[in-house]
Amino acid sequence: MLIQVISSTTREGRFSEKVASWVTEHLQAREDFEIEHVDLRHHPLPFFDGIAPARAPREYASAEVERLGRTLDRADGFIVLTAEYNHGYPAVLKNAMDWTFVEWRRKPISFVGWGNVGGARAIEQLRLVAVEFEMAPLRHAVHILPEVMMASRQSADPGDTTAFAPLEPRLKLLADDLTWWADALSAARRLEQP
Ligand SMILES: Cc1cc2nc3c(=O)[nH]c(=O)nc-3n(C[C@H](O)[C@H](O)[C@H](O)COP(=O)(O)O)c2cc1C
Repeated sequence: MLIQVISSTTREGRFSEKVASWVTEHLQAREDFEIEHVDLRHHPLPFFDGIAPARAPREYASAEVERLGRTLDRADGFIVLTAEYNHGYPAVLKNAMDWTFVEWRRKPISFVGWGNVGGARAIEQLRLVAVEFEMAPLRHAVHILPEVMMASRQSADPGDTTAFAPLEPRLKLLADDLTWWADALSAARRLEQP
């Protein structure tokens, strides 16, 4: 079972760096799935201008899109790390999603968000987008509120994730639930394969 942790913010000095360290570090200790970190900074793509990937599955417009598509194809489930930009989720993430489709389909997706309301508005919007991708968006998410963000920013060490300690039970709940769905849906996907 492979769970991908997707970093969806790419700007210089991003807070997501620490969130990614914390989430991957914690989940790597689990024995029920493997973790792969997918950083959208390493998947730069032009603004989507192709044909709808839902209609032309895996007909990749470029080597870069194919690299992202083949990467997402490997996953049994996703944890998207998301900021909230102007009450929405990052456009870089939507652009990456629009270049692909079947790679996400019939897989569970959960979220770790941060910001004034713990990224809740961005996450709610992403749940709606996930339904269009025929995914299973999960109820459990981790919301990193400003107090925790401020405590985390006190430390200049990008590997220092101690400020997130109070959120560990939430992350465990998310991971336990994601495992259940990833197991169930990967078994169902296998059954439909010829
Ligand atoms: C363009 C922009 C818009 C933002 N809008 C919001 C917002 O609507 N709600 C919020 O809670 N934080 C907002 N913020 C503050 C972010 O929560 C904060 O900058 C966070 O560090 C962003 O994640 P990142 O550093 O990984 O990019 C915004 C930040 C930027 C750069």
